[in-house]
Amino acid sequence: MRIVIARGYEDMSMRAAMIVAGQVCLKPDSVLGLATGSTPLLMYNKLVEMHHKAGLDFSNVISFNLDEYLGLAKEDQNSYHWYMYHNFFNHINIASGNIHIPNGMTQDIDQECRRYDREIRQCGGIDLQILGIGTNGHIGFNEPDIKFEATTHKVKLDQETVSANARFFADISEVPRFAISMGIKTIMHAKKILLLANGESKADAIYRAMYQGITPETPASILQLHQDVTVIVEESASKYIR
Ligand code: F6R
Repeated sequence: MRIVIARGYEDMSMRAAMIVAGQVCLKPDSVLGLATGSTPLLMYNKLVEMHHKAGLDFSNVISFNLDEYLGLAKEDQNSYHWYMYHNFFNHINIASGNIHIPNGMTQDIDQECRRYDREIRQCGGIDLQILGIGTNGHIGFNEPDIKFEATTHKVKLDQETVSANARFFADISEVPRFAISMGIKTIMHAKKILLLANGESKADAIYRAMYQGITPETPASILQLHQDVTVIVEESASKYIR
């Protein structure tokens, strides 16, 4: 595990954007695994800037998002579809057919999960997976549990996740209780992983994930077993690891 302590959110985001840009420059048809949430927002911003100012080319990039809320339509401003188009895809030259996000309105969840895993496999797996981390140590929406879920699956969101994500909704009662998430095996099969953590609220989760035992109770701890993980920790999130 490569650990980089960044001097603030701006520095974390620039470093992350440079890693993604480097990946896309070296392999223009890269398969990127993408995360939503507040952490990668400025990274997306910087990638959009690199696209406009430096010609960073996404035309052959393929993307797979980690997760999507169940029951939110693509047009819903709280859906991860909306987030990705609004913050990233609408501003770069990625081909719309290359974008993959689980369908939160599916009538057949099992089939949707199998389809998603099949498409990832058919694209040759993920080259670079971007991850954020929940205050409870989740990655994607793989919540603390007694076992690791391997493949894409339906998740019941933890109360801690519902509370943390309530800031994006008008009221906590509007936060969906279920989601579809890529599983741990799929994430671990990515050739490279880039984990980002910003803010003091992530300090404990980062410490547990990186320095304590590997356990499904802290899903991100499984990353200790991956051969190519870079963790960029903004300094207030690194207070227990310095
Ligand atoms: C989002 C995702 C989540 C978030 C995590 C941190 O697609 O998979 O694991 O990365 O909940 O969220 P923020 O960045 O909002 O603190």
